[in-house]
Amino acid sequence: MCEYCGCQAVAAIEALTEEHEQVRATADDACRLAEAADVDGARARLTELGALLRPHTAIEERGLFPALAGDFGPAMEGLVDDHRQLDATFQALCRGPASAGEVDRQVWAQALVEAVRTLFEHILREQDGVFPAALSTLNSKQWDDLDKVRTELTGVSEVAGALSTSGAALS
Ligand SMILES: [Fe+2]
Ligand SMILES: [Fe+2]
Repeated sequence: MCEYCGCQAVAAIEALTEEHEQVRATADDACRLAEAADVDGARARLTELGALLRPHTAIEERGLFPALAGDFGPAMEGLVDDHRQLDATFQALCRGPASAGEVDRQVWAQALVEAVRTLFEHILREQDGVFPAALSTLNSKQWDDLDKVRTELTGVSEVAGALSTSGAALS
């Protein structure tokens, strides 16, 4: 069924897009709290952000980018570099400001806002470039492989998830 109607491809991209929305909301929250001088609250959001990003980027790197490496190798390598740099930056930000002083807090909050801006640009490159490219080029085996990677990393199949939220798809 999936080979012909494309539901597997759509479910896979929907799952990644939904994760982007969660990432965006959590990152926005972290910025808002940091700018309001709630360092503990912002750090808690950054911990949540890391927990959202780690499986998401692993799914992209193991399941999606390799399928596009033939046509878009340098772009995929650039996105992987983004993942490494963002991970390092957010881990450093998670430790909080260099001191309890106001200047260090403002420097930290500004660095957080800039890191989130970089993250959002990365997400846009995926949603405007990588996801449409995947929808037009991946074959059913590659979508299967992506689903297997997701199941391995999260224990949840995106296809099963999509079907469980759509009663019509089960009939
Ligand atoms: Fe990514
Ligand atoms: Fe992503």
